[in-house]
Amino acid sequence: MKRLFLFAISSLLLVLPVKADEGMWLPALMSQRIADMQAKGFKLSAEDVYSINQASLKDAVVLFGGGCTGEVVSDEGLLFTNHHCGYSYIQRHSSVEHDYLKDGFWAMSRDEELPNRGLTVSFLDRMEDVTNAVLKGYSPSMTEEERQQLVRDNSAALIKEATADGKGLRASVEALFYGNQYYLFVYRVFRDVRLVGAPPSSIGKFGGDTDNWMWPRHTGDFSIFRIYADKDNNPADYSEDNVPYRPKKSFTISRAGVKNGDFTFVYGCPGSTKEYVMSEEVKYVSEVSDPQKIDLRTKRLDIMKKYMDADQAVRIQYSSKYANVSNAWKKWQGEAKGIIKMKTVKAKKEYEERFRQWAKGTRYEGLIEKLDVLYAERFPSYLAYENYTETVRAIEILSLASSVVSALDNNPESVKSLAESFFKDYYQPIDEEIFTAMLEAFDKNMDDGMKPQYFKDMLKKYGSVDSWRKDLYSKTIFTDKNKVLALKAEDVENVVKDPAYELYDAFFSWYYDTLRPVINRTSTEINLVYRDYMQGQMDFEKDKVFYPDANLTLRVAYGHVDGYSPADGITYEPVSTLKGIIEKDNPEIFDYDIPQTLRDIYAEGGHEDQPVCFLATNHTSGGNSGSPVINADGNLIGINFDRVWEGTMSDYVFDPDFCRNISIDIRYLLFNIEYIGHAEYLFNEMKFAD
Ligand code: ARG
Ligand code: ASP
Repeated sequence: MKRLFLFAISSLLLVLPVKADEGMWLPALMSQRIADMQAKGFKLSAEDVYSINQASLKDAVVLFGGGCTGEVVSDEGLLFTNHHCGYSYIQRHSSVEHDYLKDGFWAMSRDEELPNRGLTVSFLDRMEDVTNAVLKGYSPSMTEEERQQLVRDNSAALIKEATADGKGLRASVEALFYGNQYYLFVYRVFRDVRLVGAPPSSIGKFGGDTDNWMWPRHTGDFSIFRIYADKDNNPADYSEDNVPYRPKKSFTISRAGVKNGDFTFVYGCPGSTKEYVMSEEVKYVSEVSDPQKIDLRTKRLDIMKKYMDADQAVRIQYSSKYANVSNAWKKWQGEAKGIIKMKTVKAKKEYEERFRQWAKGTRYEGLIEKLDVLYAERFPSYLAYENYTETVRAIEILSLASSVVSALDNNPESVKSLAESFFKDYYQPIDEEIFTAMLEAFDKNMDDGMKPQYFKDMLKKYGSVDSWRKDLYSKTIFTDKNKVLALKAEDVENVVKDPAYELYDAFFSWYYDTLRPVINRTSTEINLVYRDYMQGQMDFEKDKVFYPDANLTLRVAYGHVDGYSPADGITYEPVSTLKGIIEKDNPEIFDYDIPQTLRDIYAEGGHEDQPVCFLATNHTSGGNSGSPVINADGNLIGINFDRVWEGTMSDYVFDPDFCRNISIDIRYLLFNIEYIGHAEYLFNEMKFAD
């Protein structure tokens, strides 16, 4: 174990070229990448990027909320991220009277900045290879359960030690390379983060779901926040007495612009990739799971859209929900297509065959066969689970029922706020139609043996999903805000007999008792085999430099500004401009209806070439949204927000010809502050390189 592990490390130390620009590298190992980065144009040192001894760029990058990235751009805690990362917070402050989603929001002074309950930003204090400490006491004679227990105990001790000073520290130990390595990540988490500015959605979400995951792109996908701290600059809950956070480091902004070939580097928190999985998994994703989930979501989106188009209030209520459902829906389409186009399943099969031959007589012999067996066991249950989450869990009153029951049990006071926030954005006709469509689809997609008995009994009783729906919605209390508001702890006995709760509970129990054990057991076993298979791949391809799969920890990806050719006869330029927005502008089409001010500014002239977005070859993933895009001098030139559709398979396989990340040009953000928000006062605290 130890010997093999040392081998893995030594192979990581060799700086050998991987396929152009593929890779999400650990900042703490910058010294291994810096020569390559510098050869490609980067002018800073490894210590400038990541250091635990001095302020470095990492001190200006945050994990924003639970799944985006942000960057600090002033000594007073000013923070940029994407509009879609701030979206749910902007939405929560919005109503028909103050529609910040539609009209945008600009604080004109510090006291107008809006607090956001539950929003945190986390700065990485340090990361550290703790493999030896985590495996301290390990002996090869241990069972996997014993090993896991050891890893848990040792990790808990490390975390306790790392967070001893209190003051908002949070730590986690993450397994990299399927547990061949462990890293400790220590964060300082700030809890008072206020909204400073957001453009109208017609800019921040320009192109909407039509242009999402696509190029050419013209989205002003940014929003601006500010981090607050207590008077000693430490994290604190929201308080009027808090003051703007004084960061160790903040980005300097470059207005010099980008051109083809320029070095770029993205510093952020990609969420999850699976670059080293077997052909069987990629086949399942591209041929079974993605297509089925796409189909289910198409139905849901069509229903939401019908009602949103008919009523502005419903549009506001469902805008965030719709965007969430549609985002993965569209990504899966590009992903499945990309995997199929790259013949990834075939390529992986061939690789596995070569691996199998090579592995004969080594400790890696038989791994591929083991994985085949485990996958065959796992997929039927996993597919049922995915169908369950995409159908039953899409019915809104069921989620409410479950949250209310657990609130009545644990914290009855919280039922009020639950009900308030649920009914603010609830439209019953949508929910009812989704109920019927989703349960009918579940019935159709699943073999009889893969359905809960309760579901079969109800269908028998009612004859159709639709009569079941009518009866359920006429009897449940969960469509009635006043009834939910009136609930008291002692009502829980009755509430669990509500038909919505019964349905939720029957499905949940079925998942919990039938699917979950198979899914969990196979997960553990598959992971275990992958630990060896991962190490095996590293030994098999000694010349390749491996990067760990993304896991929402801070990573560096570097590449250059570049267009691409999505199909024969089409070549995309890497830069888009305001001219393109005007070309797309159409008051009749919701996604392309820009604010009149923008039309007027354009008509005045002089802004045709105003840059809006650009493409580059950095390897990014979900979670990299809001990440700073940095030039060769270490200055901020853009904010990452998306990838191109033809490249979304990069979570499984990276194709240097098609994988591009999309960023908003920082100059378009500045343009918006000036011309749309008239909040130029914010420029005073920013630092400009040119
Ligand atoms: N595709 C981008 C990402 O995955 C943007 C998503 C938000 N936009 C939207 N139209 N749903 O985060
Ligand atoms: N839009 C994604 C995000 O929110 C980024 C991506 O998947 O490329 O993180």
